[in-house]
Amino acid sequence: MNILVFGKDGQLGRAFQDQLLCAPFQNGNTITFVGRNECDLSNAEQLRDILKVHSPKLIINAAAYTAVDQAESEADLALAINATAPELMAQYAVAQGATLLHFSTDYVFDGSKQGIYQESDTCNPLGIYGKTKEAGERAITQAFANSMDARYAILRTSWVYGEGANFIRTILRLAKERPTLRVIADQYGVPTSANWLAELGLQLVLDGTQLRPLTSGIYNAVPRGETTWYGLASLAVQAAVDSGAVLQVDPNAITPISAAEYPLPAPRPMNSRLSTQKLQFELERLGLVSKLPHWNTPWDEQVIAYVKRLTAS
Ligand SMILES: NC(=O)c1ccc[n+]([C@@H]2O[C@H](COP(=O)([O-])OP(=O)(O)OC[C@H]3O[C@@H](n4cnc5c(N)ncnc54)[C@H](OP(=O)(O)O)[C@@H]3O)[C@@H](O)[C@H]2O)c1
Repeated sequence: MNILVFGKDGQLGRAFQDQLLCAPFQNGNTITFVGRNECDLSNAEQLRDILKVHSPKLIINAAAYTAVDQAESEADLALAINATAPELMAQYAVAQGATLLHFSTDYVFDGSKQGIYQESDTCNPLGIYGKTKEAGERAITQAFANSMDARYAILRTSWVYGEGANFIRTILRLAKERPTLRVIADQYGVPTSANWLAELGLQLVLDGTQLRPLTSGIYNAVPRGETTWYGLASLAVQAAVDSGAVLQVDPNAITPISAAEYPLPAPRPMNSRLSTQKLQFELERLGLVSKLPHWNTPWDEQVIAYVKRLTAS
């Protein structure tokens, strides 16, 4: 089967490369990883051409315009990459009976809910990035609305970390440079490992060389538990110290602050907690729970393992 992966140089794209370059996926599949150099997703012609050339049965879209603050002044570009490109991928998939695996964000919500967000909760993104990601979700859902044999999954995730720039790496860098840190303690969410997310996504859509008969739809996809940016920073710094890193900051010298004390160009949701019940039902229906032993591992265990790897490298 031909598999086309967009966004090969991003955090999630690199995680897909790590996993897809291993058996069993290598046997019987032709896998092509595409980055910005091979296809600029803001260019519809380039995207149509590459889909035609590779004629994939599975499209994995790990690419996105992810510069949340910059998006406020680049709305058209963000919309082209986060909504128009996924719409074209979806239209191709519907026409060819292919599967599309796409990713979205907790930022489609405004964060005002008291409790955990279900997939069916009303979207109300606060910033341009969230608006364009929601537009991408809607475009995909509409394109597949009357499809009989093509399938899609949109995995909504949050606070991703992997190979690339992310909050944990920034905190560990600052912790080497400064004796104190101030971190937002009133925004709640779930840190998500790119490796964890790629493994989950692959199992949902692919069974060796066969497409999995998944139920099309949007699924929240985050590990178990919840925290704040302050909680994440504190754990990451403590884990780095425990792994032998030499830092200027003491884990107890991190100061919790409110989001109001750290204004950014784009507002963020105060509550990004996502329910994974729908995902769990689908994994059970597909008989995948035993194949994904880590799918329900708590976020903090995964962050500690990640920081240990970073500190050792
Ligand atoms: N990061 C998070 O905290 C987070 C949270 C929630 C949801 N998500 C979602 O998770 C998915 C993966 O995110 P990530 O963290 O892996 O993002 P990332 O590290 O920023 O990677 C995004 C990739 O998209 C590529 N890209 C951007 N514009 C492009 C264009 N015009 N043409 C071709 N490629 C382009 C980038 O290419 P270059 O490498 O050339 O720049 C980059 O490789 C995205 O759908 C994102 O919205 C992320």
